[in-house]
Amino acid sequence: MGLLGLGYAGFGAAELDDWREFGTTLVGLQAVEHGNSLLTFRMDDRKQRIVIDRVAPEGSRFFGWEVADGAALDDLAARLEQAGIAVTAEPQALADARHVRGLISFHDPEGNRLEAFYGAEIDATPFKPGRAISGFRTGPLGLGHAVLTVQRIDPMMAFYVDVLGFGLSDYILKPFRAYFFHVNPRHHSLALIETGKSGIHHLMVEMFSLDDVGQAYDVALSQPDRIGTSLGRHTNDFMTSFYARTPSSFMIECGWGGREIDPATWQPYEMQDGPSLWGHERVWLPARDRELAREMRMHAAAQGRRAPVQVMQGNFKLMSGTCPWWDGVRNEPAR
Ligand code: FE2
Repeated sequence: MGLLGLGYAGFGAAELDDWREFGTTLVGLQAVEHGNSLLTFRMDDRKQRIVIDRVAPEGSRFFGWEVADGAALDDLAARLEQAGIAVTAEPQALADARHVRGLISFHDPEGNRLEAFYGAEIDATPFKPGRAISGFRTGPLGLGHAVLTVQRIDPMMAFYVDVLGFGLSDYILKPFRAYFFHVNPRHHSLALIETGKSGIHHLMVEMFSLDDVGQAYDVALSQPDRIGTSLGRHTNDFMTSFYARTPSSFMIECGWGGREIDPATWQPYEMQDGPSLWGHERVWLPARDRELAREMRMHAAAQGRRAPVQVMQGNFKLMSGTCPWWDGVRNEPAR
């Protein structure tokens, strides 16, 4: 048994006050105070999911990948060492700080700090969102997804797939080269974008209600330069989302309606229509790539590319009537 999901993520950042304001009033996270050097956020019943550390250098980051138990953690450590990767068995003090029972750390080929853990602590008090949202979709799907920018995808992909056991979901070759990977039914828990520079591009959190995302979008629209990518819908995980610039140099994607896949039968493929069915104007892209992305969306629109909304019990009401389009596509093989 390998990795179960993305359990937590942490970032070095000086501006804790800005992060607290951003995390609670825009994203809807619950801030937990730890004095003036550390800020953590809850997004469900766990003690913490996102860590902002003022002592850690700006731009530093770590990602906590969850395994089932102590035996699975030992197996993973052995697999890493066999692949020639240095593993540190972290002391109890750091495991306590992460609110987990057992913890190891290691680095991917571009130096991102990865941690693996089991036994995340549950908080005795219920999750209280920073603003009135319905909550975040986590559980067996993990906290969301992380998207890294990388110098070279190939060595990174070899590490994540061959050593850590990620499955390739799909990939795009233009307007930029990006590969998407899963470890559970979430379409991707990790993606790599080849930009020539190692970094974090965004962290995605998924909300239960589309209106939560729309209201976050309104908050973001009211703040200068907050929107990094406008509202839109992704081609591969069907997420309706927008991207907000955090107080650090990366973005948080607020999403709704992500699809689930079956990792046992999923076949990876190249997406030809770009990353978005509509929207997602990426203000961070170079002008030429932005133009190409726009052309690809126009092409998707001209082709009539569309996908059913992905809903769960309680957040939809079935309408009366029939839908010829849906009747036409419902028997097509799932993509
Ligand atoms: Fe994303």
